[in-house]
Amino acid sequence: MVPFLDLSRQANEVFPLLQEAFSKVLAKGVFVLGEELEAFEKEFAAFCGARHGIGVASGTDALILTLKALGIGPGKEVVLPALSAPPTAVAVALTGARPVFADVEITTGNVAPEDLEKKIGENTAALVVVHLYGKMANMPAILDIAERHGLPVVEDCAQAHGACLEGKGAGTWGIAGCYSFYPTKNLGALGDAGMVVTDDEALASRLRSLRDYGREDRDTLGSVGHNSRLDELQASFLRVKLRLLPHWNRRRREIANVYLEKLTGLPLGLPEFDSQNHSLHLFVLDTPRRDELKEHLRRRGIQTAIHYPLPLHLQPPFREASPPCPAAEEKAKRVLSLPLYPEMREEEIQATAAAVAEFYSRSGRENR
Ligand SMILES: Cc1ncc(COP(=O)(O)O)c(C=O)c1O
Repeated sequence: MVPFLDLSRQANEVFPLLQEAFSKVLAKGVFVLGEELEAFEKEFAAFCGARHGIGVASGTDALILTLKALGIGPGKEVVLPALSAPPTAVAVALTGARPVFADVEITTGNVAPEDLEKKIGENTAALVVVHLYGKMANMPAILDIAERHGLPVVEDCAQAHGACLEGKGAGTWGIAGCYSFYPTKNLGALGDAGMVVTDDEALASRLRSLRDYGREDRDTLGSVGHNSRLDELQASFLRVKLRLLPHWNRRRREIANVYLEKLTGLPLGLPEFDSQNHSLHLFVLDTPRRDELKEHLRRRGIQTAIHYPLPLHLQPPFREASPPCPAAEEKAKRVLSLPLYPEMREEEIQATAAAVAEFYSRSGRENR
């Protein structure tokens, strides 16, 4: 049995360090908006190469609050990719703006810049770009489009901790980068948490207010905001784990390289990555025989997952108002994620790669 993900392994590995962090917070008796969060915001922003970090309650809230801080709301439109996790679209819709979906590149699944530009209309107020599976989107082309149309770009970096392009970290290309620390992410809390990173001082200060009811100071509201704060316990756990993130990301890369080595040459699409541009959050195969392959792996005891079986423009709340996105629809039928996490055991990695290879060698024989 090869689990798709087993979070207990990492939790056990860092158990004493988490316990120490937990005890420290309890002894101090400050649980919300304290020194742990302040330190984690500095450390994570520096990790990304940004000047400011604003801790919030989730990746979804990071997107909602950022869009709101940019003045996005009813009457406006936001263009975003048709292939992503549902929260990317939920966040846009919860601001009151209309999500407009752009098609993706059939190779990477990331937004296709030409279609992104085609979807810009007179009510467009922002572009949201996702670094899908951890692979950096084509930011130079996207920023060029954004500049020509005078639009801010918000990066959804929920899957891209540690990825960078041309030496610039995920989240530092656009006006802001929105991170999730959901437990399954490359850097995961022991619950929900998120962060916005930005170089923009004014945006950072609006976000600090918006996450705290809209307060300007202790007793005065500047606006009507949210209660969306990254609490001290989660911040203290995340500080511990951030120190190990580079090591964990390297391990993900090593495993992905084993998969590449064993699967190159088979009739299926494999992720492309160089040393920097992919966090290897997910290792996603692309094959028209996805369902058969998934079933074969299931029979061999190997769990897989599909990211994502239903593109965002076809989700019930959005499908009536959204035109087709053919590449996203095609990808949704073809993608299959193999297990990939730093704590995978050598025999699990080998068994997974061997079972994929076996599928193609068996079907090769059957076709003869
Ligand atoms: C691409 C993407 N965007 C946004 C989110 C939302 O993050 P959260 O679950 O922390 O709200 C996730 C993960 O869940 C995600 O994968």
